[in-house]
Amino acid sequence: LKLEQEYGPVHPGSLAELAQAATECRRCHLWEPATQVVFGEGPQDARMMMVGEQPGDQEDLAGRPFVGPAGRLLDQAMKEAGIERSTVYVTNSVKHFKFEARGKRRIHAKPDLTEIGACSVWLAEERRAVKPALLVMLGATAARAVLGRTVTISRERSRPIALPETFGGNSQGLVTVHPSYLLRLPDEEAKQREYAAFVADLRLARSLLE
Ligand code: URA
Repeated sequence: LKLEQEYGPVHPGSLAELAQAATECRRCHLWEPATQVVFGEGPQDARMMMVGEQPGDQEDLAGRPFVGPAGRLLDQAMKEAGIERSTVYVTNSVKHFKFEARGKRRIHAKPDLTEIGACSVWLAEERRAVKPALLVMLGATAARAVLGRTVTISRERSRPIALPETFGGNSQGLVTVHPSYLLRLPDEEAKQREYAAFVADLRLARSLLE
């Protein structure tokens, strides 16, 4: 994974300026088939930042993160955990939808390390702008993008991780599952159990900010 330092500074500025600059991003090839960039959204003074993987089909069309099925599940879990989404800065590791076309359908494709690395400049700038006290990583791609190494979710979830101060401020990280993982679980019992564990992680996230 290339460090964002290798790419040099992008467009230090406000979130609105960053979001605007990202519309012109050509750091990797994913911009071309995608409809538009899906930048993060939320208040600049958010204390919690949530990082996902990449926009899905609905996010690509709407231009907003986590508005599709995974987003609805995330909303529900946040609500149960007592977290108000409008107070959280929600973003993704990769800001364009990567997909394979199958007929008329666009099937999610996993971003590779080059794409995650190329896009990490934007996440770095978002972190610099927001300086969240807590950064919640949803799934392995987010954990890799933030921590810069391979992360086994089951081993590292549910406990605070001290993050280096590179982006200003003392920041903690928390790894948990990605909501899409919950949607993919085949059996109902596992789904309920894993969903409860996800909500428990989000409750922990909330309590870390109290
Ligand atoms: N999955 C993600 O990781 N991010 C989104 O914005 C939507 C689905």
